[in-house]
Amino acid sequence: MRTRKEPDGTLIVWSDSPAETEELGKILGGILQPGDLFFLSGDLGSGKTLLVRGVTLGLDSAETATSPTFALIHRYEGALPLYHLDLYRLSDPEDIEPLALEELREEEAAMMIEWGEPAKDLLASTYMEVGFDRGEQEEKRILTFRPAGERYRELTHLLWVELEKSKTGK
Ligand SMILES: Nc1ncnc2c1ncn2[C@@H]1O[C@H](COP(=O)(O)OP(=O)(O)O)[C@@H](O)[C@H]1O
Ligand SMILES: [Mg+2]
Repeated sequence: MRTRKEPDGTLIVWSDSPAETEELGKILGGILQPGDLFFLSGDLGSGKTLLVRGVTLGLDSAETATSPTFALIHRYEGALPLYHLDLYRLSDPEDIEPLALEELREEEAAMMIEWGEPAKDLLASTYMEVGFDRGEQEEKRILTFRPAGERYRELTHLLWVELEKSKTGK
C-alpha cells in the first residue's frame, strides 16, 4: 500500500486490491478507541463496506461486517463494540432522528457511517472523513483520510505509522 501524508494531516492510501483495503481496515481496527467516529463517502462499490469488514477483523469480532442494507444499523462485539451504519436510503435529516444516534454515541463504542452526510452535523464536530475514489484500473482504490479534530489527526498519524511498520515487516 502506497501512502502519502500531507502537511495538513491528510493521509492518502493507494489500495491495489480488495485484500489490501481489508488489511488497511484491519490495521485501523487495531488502533480504534471508544468514541471514534468515521464518515465514509464514495460511490457504490468503492470499498466502504470492505474497509469496515477489515475493521471488524482488526477488532477480533466473531462476526464480520457485511452491507447493512436492510438493517440500517449493525453492532459488532469485539475488543471494542463497533457500530456500522449505512444511511444510503436516507436523505433527510428528519429520517435520521428516529435512529437516536446521539444515544448510541454515549456508548463506549466506535462508529463508522456510510452515506452519513445528513447525520454529520447532528453527531459531532470532530471525526474522520474517509473519501473513496476509484483508480485507473478495476481493482485500484484511493482512500483519503481527512481528520477533523486533534484525536483524528493523532489517529491518522498512528495509522500511517502502523502502515509503515507493516511494510517493513513484509
Ligand atoms: N482495492 C479495492 N478495495 C476495495 N474494494 C475493491 C477493490 N478492488 C475491487 N474492489 C471491489 O469493489 C467492491 C466494493 O464493495 P463494497 O465494499 O461493498 O463497496 P461500498 O460499501 O462502497 O458500496 C467489492 O466487490 C470489491 O471486491
Ligand atoms: Mg457499503
